[in-house]
Amino acid sequence: MLSEDITGRTRLCGIIGDPVEHSISPVMHNAAFKKLGLDYLYIPFHVTPGNLRRAMEGMRGLNISGLNVTIPHKVEVMQFLDSVDPTAEKIGAVNVVFNSGGLLQGFNTDAEGFLQPLLEKKIDPKGKNVVILGAGGASRAIAFILSERGADITILNRTSGKAIQFIETVSQTTGKIMGTLELNEMNLSTVMPVADILINATSVGMSPDSNDTLVTRDLLRPGMVVVDIVYNPFKTKLLMEAEKAGATTIGGIEMLVWQGALSFEKWTGLKAPLEEMRKAARKALKA
Ligand code: ATR
Repeated sequence: MLSEDITGRTRLCGIIGDPVEHSISPVMHNAAFKKLGLDYLYIPFHVTPGNLRRAMEGMRGLNISGLNVTIPHKVEVMQFLDSVDPTAEKIGAVNVVFNSGGLLQGFNTDAEGFLQPLLEKKIDPKGKNVVILGAGGASRAIAFILSERGADITILNRTSGKAIQFIETVSQTTGKIMGTLELNEMNLSTVMPVADILINATSVGMSPDSNDTLVTRDLLRPGMVVVDIVYNPFKTKLLMEAEKAGATTIGGIEMLVWQGALSFEKWTGLKAPLEEMRKAARKALKA
């Protein structure tokens, strides 16, 4: 939306995070609003942890329609909301807030945003052996949705103590027991031969360290599904190696676009123009 298009009726959405300047959500959402001809505008808000309470009061006070929530606020934001939907509650993190007539409602679209690209490729997690690298916020949403869908999950994390704690919390909420191991070469070579799906939920491979990967090509094979949550670069070293090994690959941009599309639907009640959002995200990443 150009500034001369802003009217007295324009509704405001945005993203709160620290840092936030590299976010491509504004480009993606403004492209979607434009495509559907909606009188909405999406803005990035740099909110430091000490200002989170004030930011959420601001959302009420200014009648902002919707917000995405990113690092480091996804957990802390929950205490400032009027309601949190059951999935977000179980995951323990909110990435979308909808202002419904003054009531702030929290949702999590990261989990479903991860699942949808798999389903698009006709990959059903049920009964699959899944290896997830990392035990941070993204990993938690992914582990939750995949275990709910009947996958058998092993988490490998650099800090093994953190992984154990993580597994206990996720297992408690999903009622499924998951395995956990320290992330090292020996454990990788044990779990990889029986893995159907490998997910990198760490930041390893992210620009400018785009030559890094936690899994070497000899551990990848045809028929395997390899998913990377890193979206910059567009195709990570891990995905390049996986492609060469004949595996099916899904890049981080898919999760990004899908969580955005599902956020858009919460705010507007309309079906998101997914292809338009994907195009805008790709273009922004190339720039
Ligand atoms: P996010 O919310 O995106 O998941 P996060 O909560 O900071 O981000 O989690 C990042 C994950 O990547 C963590 O599991 C982290 O491992 P630790 O728990 O040991 O910190 C993992 N990670 C980051 N850099 C890594 C590296 N170089 N090698 C292995 N794991 C790494």
